[in-house]
Amino acid sequence: MLDKLERLPPDPILGLAAAAREDSHPNKVDLTVGVYKDEHGLCPVFEAVTKAQELLAQEEVTKAYMPPAGSEDFNAGMQRLLLGAGHPALAGGRVSSVQAPGGCGALRIGAELVYAANQGAKVWVSDPTWPVHIPLLGSVGLEFANYRYYDPATHGVNFDAMVEDLQQAAAGDVVLLHGCCHNPCGADLTLEQWGVIADMVEAQGFLPYVDIAYQGLGDGLDQDAAGLRLLAERVPEMIVAASCSKNMGLYRERTGATIFIAKTPESAEALVSQALVAARRVYSMPPSHGALIAGRILVDQELDALWRSELVAMCGRINDLRKAIRDKLEAATQRDFAFIENEKGMFSFLGLSAEQAIRLREEHSVYMLNSSRINIAGVNAKNIDHFASAVAAVL
Ligand code: LMR
Repeated sequence: MLDKLERLPPDPILGLAAAAREDSHPNKVDLTVGVYKDEHGLCPVFEAVTKAQELLAQEEVTKAYMPPAGSEDFNAGMQRLLLGAGHPALAGGRVSSVQAPGGCGALRIGAELVYAANQGAKVWVSDPTWPVHIPLLGSVGLEFANYRYYDPATHGVNFDAMVEDLQQAAAGDVVLLHGCCHNPCGADLTLEQWGVIADMVEAQGFLPYVDIAYQGLGDGLDQDAAGLRLLAERVPEMIVAASCSKNMGLYRERTGATIFIAKTPESAEALVSQALVAARRVYSMPPSHGALIAGRILVDQELDALWRSELVAMCGRINDLRKAIRDKLEAATQRDFAFIENEKGMFSFLGLSAEQAIRLREEHSVYMLNSSRINIAGVNAKNIDHFASAVAAVL
């Protein structure tokens, strides 16, 4: 029976990263998967993570299962990190959360609860969105609709079109929003626009579901969460899927959290009980290593301060790179790339066609997604000239 299953094409992101790894060109440039790389092209381990890991290794006395909801320090720390310590929803006891295997696991748990609450829920996703959103949420049984978001002509958010489309989102529907550093386009909502979305939730009754995987890589930890914090003050209910892959560099440790802002404390508890049953049928128990590290950092003042300073440096380097990429591309092509400097986080579209992106790979060993999404952090002082002249060549 299994021999009926055909070989599937590689994942559009991970497959290109694998192709880049295999390319033996000495000047290859890998701008595919969203993994932070330093000036030497390495994805470093945060010093705060190494220190927390050493402490845990000394203290660990068991490898028995984690509690089903995960580490308490981690869950409480993530709630504070996302919402801010004094947030009214926290003070009102309306927030609960479970640890999940990465941001993907967190998204999946949220989707399972949406489906349990309303099997007919339509999930509104931005056009474009991270391609994995669709199989990840869709395999639960949810349907999708697109709202217009990124305008390639202006390299910005077409907010009027977004609002026009979301006027059709009904009570019982879900609107998936990127908390910051939009993946793939890097164009974010302003705080004022988050306020308009909150007005729409109040008027129309749809459920906001915020995916935030890049907190701290745009303008800073608090600034990047300002939109979701505002929403959580105004709306009765929402779900947040958060990840420590990027902002703590815990990619392979699969460290994420699903956070519920509920109408009442009782409902917040009920949602956790639902999440535990959903997790039990999908992966049973959460992994420990990453969440214990993250939890330790978030409760330990010294480690927390060290981690924050490392994250500020990482974010600063990304923003410096954005300026350098703009300058090099403008010099090489005589075209306007100011939008690269204005966008946030790890990703931007270069605005090339798929044919041009393919030529960049085949003729110049410069790897980006066919949509021309680049990982800004893959650029460094050694490869930036080759990158810019290759882009100029295909333009
Ligand atoms: C990306 O978009 O490149 C990252 O979120 C990694 C992934 O899993 O796709």
